Amino acid sequence: MEQKVALVTGITGQDGSYLAEQLLEKNYLVHGIIRRASTFNTSRIDHLFKDIHDPDARLFLHYGDMGDASSIWRIVDHVAPDEIYHLGAQSHVRVSFDIPEYTADIVALGTVRLLEAVRRAKKKIKFYQASSSELFGSSAPPQSEKTAFHPRSPYACAKAYAYYIVQNYRESYGMFASNGILFNHESPRRGETFVTRKITRGIARILAGKDKLIYLGNLDSKRDWGYAPDYTDAMYRILQHKKADDFVIATGKTHSVREFLEECFSLVKLDWKDYVKIDPRYFRPSEVEVLQGDASKAKKELGWSPKMQFKELAKLMLDADMKKEGLKGVL
Ligand code: NAP
Ligand code: GDD
Repeated sequence: MEQKVALVTGITGQDGSYLAEQLLEKNYLVHGIIRRASTFNTSRIDHLFKDIHDPDARLFLHYGDMGDASSIWRIVDHVAPDEIYHLGAQSHVRVSFDIPEYTADIVALGTVRLLEAVRRAKKKIKFYQASSSELFGSSAPPQSEKTAFHPRSPYACAKAYAYYIVQNYRESYGMFASNGILFNHESPRRGETFVTRKITRGIARILAGKDKLIYLGNLDSKRDWGYAPDYTDAMYRILQHKKADDFVIATGKTHSVREFLEECFSLVKLDWKDYVKIDPRYFRPSEVEVLQGDASKAKKELGWSPKMQFKELAKLMLDADMKKEGLKGVL
């Protein structure tokens, strides 16, 4: 069988690392776009990397940036992928209020830069867009493909542009371009400033004697939290579907930040109220109160359903952070 070639933007991120792993297992040649940084930023994919001179090497990295059209066009031309998974983004909602213009440039315009590179390519390339449940914002749960969008942050507004431009290129140019509208998904590789990881890492550091407290913002908001590798599997399925389309990917269950705290602290037999302080710095000018997805379309058409649920996820993440601190884990 012919070896498929995938190009992954955001390959150094949580999702990019799991997706690269899964594609390599399926015998793909995987190319990723990475940013130049003054420190190493490939820790999530180092275990996948072979010296490029090794004849068995199947993972290749290229310097580029979603803000730089010429690098994107050059990489798409050079790699000539069968599939592009577009995950690269300024992905932090709270930070998007501080850097709204940059967020729009990378998240919204970055997507159209990449789509233009695909449009002018000689071969047909399938395109996956990392759309987000943040698009739903204040729309009442449960949210499905039919729910109206009401974005509540510069990040969500930029993702709304990206969502619609993907649909527009599909309709205008007949491209195989699909949106995965993914609800929150977490893992031991989650960025340390997202709330679940901040909590599990914070507990581990408290137990290791490095920190005394965890400072958080709004504990009342509710999220539909799933496990990242389940969600990167959904991305792959979306591009293997018979036609380009848009899919909600979610567990269908929702829990508050407070419940996540309670779950994790109870695993180490501590009362979270003794270790958590509220710092208004972490409040958002406008919040998304409740996300709870309805992924029945993905179940029916892609045969996708989540394998891991809330309690197991909390335990897995806490265990990994405790072991990183040299402690005995909870698994
Ligand atoms: P992440 O861990 O924050 O990773 C983001 C990736 O984008 C990193 O590889 C980052 O590179 C890269 N990136 C940032 N700015 C870039 C730029 N200017 N040019 C090129 N690359 C850039 O995010 P994630 O959780 O894996 O999420 C992947 C995608 O899914 C994102 O688009 C996110 O918005 C979206 N999404 C995530 C979730 C979720 O719950 N995780 C849900 C829905 C949608 P560095 O490593 O150099 O920073
Ligand atoms: N980050 C963070 N830090 N969030 C906090 C904190 C804190 O100290 N305290 C409370 N929260 C609340 C936030 O206000 C929000 O309601 C909730 O915890 C989840 O915040 P995040 O973990 O930062 O995730 P998010 O839901 O804003 O965004 C993530 O999921 C989106 C999909 O719905 C990101 O991965 C986005 O890129 C993604 O699109």
